[in-house]
Amino acid sequence: MKLIVYVYVSMIVLGVQAWPNVKRSFELYPNVVALPYTEHKISDCMHVTSEPGDYVFKKSATSSPQSQLPTFNLNRETTLLELEAAAAAADPAAVAAAAAAVATDATVCGLYVIGEPDTLVEITMKHYDVNCESGGLMAFVDGWELNGEYFPGVQDHHRTLEDRVYEFCNNNKQWPRISNKKFFRSSQNAALLQYRIPKHGSFVANVRFHKITQPCNVLVQNTAAVYKISNYGHPRNCTLSAIFPAAISLGNLRIGGKSVRNQAKVNYDCQSNEDRLEIGGSAGLDSAGLELASAVCGQSGELGPEQAIYCEVTSVRLVSTGRYQNQATVIVRKADVEDLDIATLMCAL
Ligand SMILES: *[C@@H]1O[C@H](CO)[C@@H](O)[C@H](O)[C@H]1NC(C)=O
Repeated sequence: MKLIVYVYVSMIVLGVQAWPNVKRSFELYPNVVALPYTEHKISDCMHVTSEPGDYVFKKSATSSPQSQLPTFNLNRETTLLELEAAAAAADPAAVAAAAAAVATDATVCGLYVIGEPDTLVEITMKHYDVNCESGGLMAFVDGWELNGEYFPGVQDHHRTLEDRVYEFCNNNKQWPRISNKKFFRSSQNAALLQYRIPKHGSFVANVRFHKITQPCNVLVQNTAAVYKISNYGHPRNCTLSAIFPAAISLGNLRIGGKSVRNQAKVNYDCQSNEDRLEIGGSAGLDSAGLELASAVCGQSGELGPEQAIYCEVTSVRLVSTGRYQNQATVIVRKADVEDLDIATLMCAL
């Protein structure tokens, strides 16, 4: 059984704006981002964080369900995204479904962790008291899961989904009662700790980040940043995804073999090439559902034109056979209403 979180993807954008706006992905990363012993209380059902430290959840038998639907404040700077999110929230079916989930008290919640692009996430369960018998369950996910879809996409990950989702709970019938300290690592800068605690329970999860040298899949953390995407010569597909409509431009491009790289201009129509950089969007997290706006190959040191993708999720996917050293610099920023004239793709939002 998989724990699945049903929310509207656009809600995340609101969370993103609430993040501390202190670091940008292209700045040099300090070794220690914050004291690893900071204690954080998990207060929202969907809790998004990019900070290391201990995350504490506690639900006592008498307390009301901690999980609450995200609320929307329309007094803030009104953007296209927020209006969409508000519209999504106003969807009666969604509200009813969410209310029903709260009522049955079996809501699946999650600690969504996202780090700098060149990190992986480590989660250590310092303590957990989540009773299997009363329907309690926890899961570590190597990536993010939303509405049954995963980032990185199931096809593009080197591990199978079974290996990426590890479920656990306390079986109190078992003797001796052991609550082993559990230790997990993700394969990219995104990881998720899911929990369903119908009655009472608690856990303390420690979050840390570790540097990696050849990042492949990257979840975009900032609404304006520069990323490098490369296959480092390997046969693999790497996806950079932003959970918001985004304007994308490319620089330092080098994709494909000599014959394509020797052409005078960058080619934005390379669907039939094996090595290519796909730009597109989708309604969900899985890049398998990517609608293509352009497929790029060739070589150029210059900054290419911007294009706006109006989808819940914007992705740049590098498809590599391993025959070439492919690379690109990807400049991502949140698309606004003013960017409509550079739109290359509109998903049904
Ligand atoms: C990468 O994706 C392409 C199609 O999008 C697929 O044919 C190929 O097998 C994938 N390669 C790897 C290593 O998964």
